Amino acid sequence: MATSYPIKAALGRTAFITGGSQGIGRAIALRLARDGYDISIADIPPAQARVDEVVKEIQSWGRNAISVTADVREPKQIYAAIDETVEKLGPNLFVSVANAGVTQVKPLLECTPEFMENEVRLNLLGLMNTHIAAARQMVKQKSGGRILGAGSIASYRTAENLGPYGATKFAVRGFTEASAKEWAQYGIRVNAYGPGIVDTPMWDHIDRELAAIEGISVGAAKDIRVRRDIKLGRIQQPEDVAKLVAFLVSDEGEYITGQTIKTCGGASL
Ligand SMILES: NC(=O)c1ccc[n+]([C@@H]2O[C@H](COP(=O)([O-])OP(=O)(O)OC[C@H]3O[C@@H](n4cnc5c(N)ncnc54)[C@H](O)[C@@H]3O)[C@@H](O)[C@H]2O)c1
Repeated sequence: MATSYPIKAALGRTAFITGGSQGIGRAIALRLARDGYDISIADIPPAQARVDEVVKEIQSWGRNAISVTADVREPKQIYAAIDETVEKLGPNLFVSVANAGVTQVKPLLECTPEFMENEVRLNLLGLMNTHIAAARQMVKQKSGGRILGAGSIASYRTAENLGPYGATKFAVRGFTEASAKEWAQYGIRVNAYGPGIVDTPMWDHIDRELAAIEGISVGAAKDIRVRRDIKLGRIQQPEDVAKLVAFLVSDEGEYITGQTIKTCGGASL
C-alpha cells in the first residue's frame, strides 16, 4: 500500500516507537513522520539494518529521525532509550507507541515456563514499562501526550494455540484502562490499537507454525482465516493500523482515552 499522505509541516513534537523496523511499527513511524512528528525508533540489534532504512527514508523528507537500541524485555534499556530520545530530539516527547511484540504459537499443553515468560516479558511488561517511562517524561514536560500500545482482536477473543499471546493482549487492555485513569490528570491519553490479521512478518510466522500444527500447507492457515474471517475481503495492511494511530494522536482523537480499539476489517465479528 503506497504511503500517499502529504508530508506536513514539522510539529516540533517527537514520537517514540518500539519495534519500528518492520510491519506495523514501521508503518506507524512513517505515517507519524509524514504527519509532522520527529521520530525515534527503538528496536533490538538484529533489526538495526532495517531500522536504518526507515530512519533514512524519514530523513530524506527533511524530518528528524533517530534510532535507539532497546530490548523492551529490559526496563533499563527502555528508560535509556527515552533519555537518549529526549537528549537528541529535545524535551518534546508527545507520542509513545509501545508496539514491539511477539507471537508464539503452541498448544497450551506444550507451553514451557520459559516460552510463556518470554511472551509476558515482551508483550506485557515491555509495554507497561514503555508506557511508564514515556509518561514520566511527559509529566516532567508538563505538556500532556498520547500513549498507544499494541493490543489485538486477541485483546477481546483468544484463539487456540495462541493462548499466552491472547492472555498478554487481554492484559494490555486492562493496563490501557488503568493508566488512562491515572494519567488523564496530566493531559495524557492512553489507548491501544487492536489489529486483526495484518500482512507482516509476524503473520508469516504464525502461518508457518499453524500450518505445522494443523497439517496444512504453508500459506493455507493465513488464507483460510483471511477468507473466512475478514468481512472487508482483504488482508489488513500495516498502513491500515497506522491510520488509526494517526487519528488517535491527532486533535480529532482528543476525547478518547482508555480504549482498545479494534481495526480488523470485521474479523472480530
Ligand atoms: N500482525 C498482526 O496481524 C497483528 C495483529 C494484532 C496485533 N499485532 C501486534 O502489533 C505489534 C506489531 O506486530 P507486527 O506484525 O508488526 O510484528 P513484526 O514481528 O512484524 O515486528 C515486530 C517488531 O518488534 C521488534 N522486536 C522484537 N522483539 C523486540 C524486543 N525484545 N524489543 C524491542 N523490539 C523488538 C522487531 O525487531 C520488529 O521490528 C505486536 O505487538 C503484535 O502483537 C499484530
